[in-house]
Amino acid sequence: MKTLYQKNLLGMLLFILMVPNVHASDKALKAQARSSAKDLGSSLKQELQKSMKEGGPIAAIKVCNVKAPEIAAQISQTKGIRVGRTALRVRNPNNAPDAWEKTQLEKFISRLASGEPVGKLDAHVIQNGEFRYMKAIGTQGVCLKCHGAKLSKQVHETIQSLYPQDQATGFAVGDIRGAFTITIPMNKNE
Ligand code: HEC
Repeated sequence: MKTLYQKNLLGMLLFILMVPNVHASDKALKAQARSSAKDLGSSLKQELQKSMKEGGPIAAIKVCNVKAPEIAAQISQTKGIRVGRTALRVRNPNNAPDAWEKTQLEKFISRLASGEPVGKLDAHVIQNGEFRYMKAIGTQGVCLKCHGAKLSKQVHETIQSLYPQDQATGFAVGDIRGAFTITIPMNKNE
């Protein structure tokens, strides 16, 4: 028979062993999510730069149209997680935010307004057995050709023909254009 003291000791030991573990896995998931967001970001940037250089913004729009969802699907496949982009005002309606994403995007805007740098704006939550992570995407000069307040006639027409419900214009440098959104299933084998 175990004494009360032994039982408590066992409990305490388990507690000590488990707490750092929970913490470590949370950290590992966040690191994994961050690196996936980075992968998506740099692949998109590369693709955008290449197509802008080769064919200008019109060619780049068409590349973006096909490549952006393709690249996201590719990263999702290789890592067994879901990666994508979202925004409060979307170009592609498939990128529309769900409730959690919408709240975080709104929080990013108020955090930015109260002085947090855009590079620091991220958030995570554990929801329905999934680890979810978001990282804000700032607007840079190069983005304005397709997301700014004044688009060239040709750019405007091309975007309208591909995205008749486009809401993703009128942004200025420094605005939050949207966010990367990553979902990692946690209890796959349980
Ligand atoms: C050549 C035109 C072009 C440029 C330049 C461009 N984008 Fe886009 N952007 C698009 C198109 C087209 C889509 C829709 C892609 C899709 O169908 O998923 C898009 C979609 C997005 C989305 C996903 C949410 C949505 O609105 O559907 C984000 C976020 C985004 N762009 C951010 C940026 C940022 C940040 C930059 C600058 C670094 C940038 N874009 C530069 C054309 C462009």
